[in-house]
Amino acid sequence: MVKKDYVKNVSEILITKKQLKKGIIKAARWIDDTYTDKNKDLVLVGLLKGSIPFIGQLVTEIERDITLDFMVVSSFKGEHKAQGKPEIVTDILSNIEGKDVLLVEDIVDSGYTIFYVIKELEKRKPNSIKIITLLDKPTGRKVNLDIAYSCFKIPHKFLVGFGLDYKEKCRNYEFVGVLKNEIIEKEDI
Ligand code: IMP
Ligand code: MG
Repeated sequence: MVKKDYVKNVSEILITKKQLKKGIIKAARWIDDTYTDKNKDLVLVGLLKGSIPFIGQLVTEIERDITLDFMVVSSFKGEHKAQGKPEIVTDILSNIEGKDVLLVEDIVDSGYTIFYVIKELEKRKPNSIKIITLLDKPTGRKVNLDIAYSCFKIPHKFLVGFGLDYKEKCRNYEFVGVLKNEIIEKEDI
């Protein structure tokens, strides 16, 4: 087996490729069991760019019909601390009025980003809005949020990989890992 070079950037692999796959299949089963009315439209809205690997695997495991849309929301300026007020940079193209919407996130930390997105989308009168996230950092929460489904609860550490970035890098890693402290201290990757 070829050892991936990027392993050197993490101090610990928290969730392996195999565990991610298993968790995502379970999440797809939850979606099929939750949205049972096949005649009702279900729109999955992925928040770019972090949700890409998660939503990519997730949609291929879902057995009912869905539509797919994406949104770019800025809140996290490529650094390792959340800053400023969220803003919709690129909006979805779908009309969600009367439809079921499932927001797909990579990670919910403070909850500010997803809280803001929900407030904006509620104005468009969907039938329902729920949140599914790959990772949930409950200790970071600053707002009261109802997360319908989370694949993994994680500790309060700065994580990278499987969509999560540090300065726009690391998103391609096949696992979720803890970024080495020395990289954060030197601000260099
Ligand atoms: P929140 O608004 O604080 O919930 O943060 C949400 C966004 O911050 C996520 O969608 C990520 O893009 C980013 N984020 C939060 N924690 C981490 C982390 O540990 N590593 C990388 N990105 C993170
Ligand atoms: Mg995100």
